[in-house]
Amino acid sequence: MIRIEHLKKEYENVTPLVDVNAEIHDGDVISVIGPSGTGKSTLLRCINRLEKPTSGRIWIGEDEITDPKCDISRIRQRMGMVFQSFNLFGHLTVIENIMLAPVTLKGVDRQKAYDRGMELLKMVGLAEKAMNYPDELSGGQKQRIAIARTLAMDPEIILFDEPTSALDPTMVGEVQAVIMDLAGTGKTMMIVTHEMSFARAISNRVFYMDEGGIYEDGSAEQVFSHPRGVNTRRFIRHLKVLELNIESRNFDFLGMAGQIDTYCYRNHIAHALCSRIQLLFEETVERLLLPALEIPRIQAVCEYSEERKRAVWTFRYGGPRLDVTEQGDRLLCGKNRQDLV
Ligand SMILES: Nc1ncnc2c1ncn2[C@@H]1O[C@H](COP(=O)(O)OP(=O)(O)O)[C@@H](O)[C@H]1O
Ligand SMILES: [Mg+2]
Repeated sequence: MIRIEHLKKEYENVTPLVDVNAEIHDGDVISVIGPSGTGKSTLLRCINRLEKPTSGRIWIGEDEITDPKCDISRIRQRMGMVFQSFNLFGHLTVIENIMLAPVTLKGVDRQKAYDRGMELLKMVGLAEKAMNYPDELSGGQKQRIAIARTLAMDPEIILFDEPTSALDPTMVGEVQAVIMDLAGTGKTMMIVTHEMSFARAISNRVFYMDEGGIYEDGSAEQVFSHPRGVNTRRFIRHLKVLELNIESRNFDFLGMAGQIDTYCYRNHIAHALCSRIQLLFEETVERLLLPALEIPRIQAVCEYSEERKRAVWTFRYGGPRLDVTEQGDRLLCGKNRQDLV
């Protein structure tokens, strides 16, 4: 089990991890998702101590790896990490790459290391490449070798940092299939990935990282189908967001119309939908909200879904709730919800 308490990691200019807390159980397969720069790699690198956390504590089983007295090299043998770039030794054959760590770090007998290496190569479907050099392999094959090399140390935990993102799209599937097989073996795994359907298929848990920590932690089904947090929902559904704030009656209406235009243009929103987005903003603000509010403080958020080609406006203000579908007479842009979005 891995336990993380109040983990913080500061760099000179940025603090990607402000307060991370988690309990990871044996056999958990966790997909770590989130926008880039939210500290996904940093989290993995803190867990295997490639990075020294600024503060907070991490336990792997009974061992506190953030304790200065902890023997990190021993702990690292219990964890494997697979990176985006495969880092195979070019001057060693495939089987030598796989045998290297068990022989040198664990003192495993060469014959045993060889036999186990061949077994692992079979498992990743590359036994016939044992005597080849990495240069002679495709990217997908190299990554499968890198996974076999990690498994050769028999780690309890495997951390994957975007294992398929450096690959040609045609090779993503073969590597994902190997990782998928591994997930079925009961190993504890954490996988940073941008491939949402893969994440959904492989993991029992998903961490959505944002705002300095694990913003949402839930089952794959929950996070992907019923995300709780605003940011999670926007990320999962690829929503393009525009936020406009109105703070007085004399707000810069033309300026905002311009911002909406730019937003539509940048997100390749069809002209007809763009006009409806403009019209709904204008009418809701001018006809419904401004006349009704004493102090006009309105936050207007437009969320556009590329997949569904739909946009939704949400208006927050201090005042009674309005159902725009009941305001049809006062809105030119339509009476039913279909026309409003
Ligand atoms: N060694 C480093 N030194 C300084 N800043 C770093 C270092 N590693 C990562 N960062 C910064 O920390 C933030 C989080 O990085 P990272 O963990 O790689 O994010 P992610 O994997 O989610 O894209 C980024 O802003 C990145 O620039
Ligand atoms: Mg990263």
